[in-house]
Amino acid sequence: MLTELTHKNYKSIIRVIYGYFGSVLILGIFTMLWYFGVVSFESFNNSTDDFDNLFYMSYDIAQLDDSPENDIIKYGYELFQNTPKYLGPDNEANDEVFSGNRLSCNNCHLNSGTKPYAAPLIGIINRFPQYRGREDKIGTIEERINGCFERSMNGKILPPTSKEMTALVSYLSFLSRYAPEDGKVKGQGFTSVKIPNRPIDLDNGKQIFNNVCIRCHGINGQGAMSSDGYTYEFPPLWGDDSYNNGAGMTRVITAAQFIKGNMPFDNLYEEQKLTDEEAYDVAGYINQMQRPQKTNLAQDFPNILKKPVSTPYPPYEDDFSIEQHQKGPFQPIMEYYKKKHKITKTK
Ligand code: HEC
Ligand code: HEC
Repeated sequence: MLTELTHKNYKSIIRVIYGYFGSVLILGIFTMLWYFGVVSFESFNNSTDDFDNLFYMSYDIAQLDDSPENDIIKYGYELFQNTPKYLGPDNEANDEVFSGNRLSCNNCHLNSGTKPYAAPLIGIINRFPQYRGREDKIGTIEERINGCFERSMNGKILPPTSKEMTALVSYLSFLSRYAPEDGKVKGQGFTSVKIPNRPIDLDNGKQIFNNVCIRCHGINGQGAMSSDGYTYEFPPLWGDDSYNNGAGMTRVITAAQFIKGNMPFDNLYEEQKLTDEEAYDVAGYINQMQRPQKTNLAQDFPNILKKPVSTPYPPYEDDFSIEQHQKGPFQPIMEYYKKKHKITKTK
């Protein structure tokens, strides 16, 4: 009886000691991992995380060696950052003018396509082929990139089998290498904006432009070139070198979301400086300015019910004016589609 008890006590003492050292050890390991940045306290707190941890992975092409597969990724990155130098109006290979303005992909897909809520391209390859309303068919990633060539770059289709298209797709594959199979990433697209239920206030938009945007985009919204002479350090917001009227950015709701999440450029996502109302008005202001006009826009959205409400060009399925599709208020148009067609429209 007595020996049994002592034995039991001995066992429980050992257990306490093990437990104690075990906890200290585990705590020590965590402190070390935390100290060296392997784990962060934020990663335990997913509920308040605004975007996927995928955005913290490395997408630095400088870490790639010079194998032929890596060379094509690096060329894709180079095209993404300095598009007009290779494909723009004054590139040295004159037979290769594919983009009609001097924007680079990176001017809108910020941080080389890796910034959350700046239409990041992490996981994009896994999301294609994909149904697209503008064409009303399943489209390939090459067709989607060409959508930006024809509209955001005011240019023409880059042949799907060209070295340049292969390079761009390779770079996007590199960005997608850690993404889940379905390519869905928290932080894709743009931040949401509560769209005011009123028309754009152009005077307010102009004032915000003057107070906030001129610092970088210039007094006439024409930005400033980089010292390389090909690309923009601060891209133009309208005029001949801007996106055309068929681009995603000419939809006021899309532009407001981009601007709210990303401008002024020295903002962090976490500390947005513009209110929803300000982003809405300034987006309306820049999109009322003169910009290149795309031909054949009437052929967009063969299924007209798929057309986003702030698409600035006709035809529409509804009877609201072109002006209202450009300057709001958008709620009545959204309600119309909900009531008549049971379609929820967000942009
Ligand atoms: C003027 C700004 C702008 C430029 C420049 C631009 N894009 Fe885009 N891009 C957008 C916008 C806005 C969207 C989202 C459109 C939408 O919501 O329908 C988009 C969407 C995309 C998508 C689909 C993203 C997704 O999440 O589904 C791809 C791929 C893409 N762009 C590639 C490119 C490439 C490659 C270039 C350079 C050749 C480029 N873009 C240049 C504005 C731009
Ligand atoms: C601190 C400088 C800065 C300020 C202030 C700023 N921007 Fe930008 N903006 C940039 C830069 C830089 C880019 C391109 C990002 C890149 O290439 O990395 C850009 C890109 C853009 C783009 C997409 C590319 C294009 O030219 O269409 C839009 C739209 C835009 N800014 C709108 C605005 C608006 C509206 C404001 C004012 C509310 C604003 N920006 C304030 C620096 C700035």
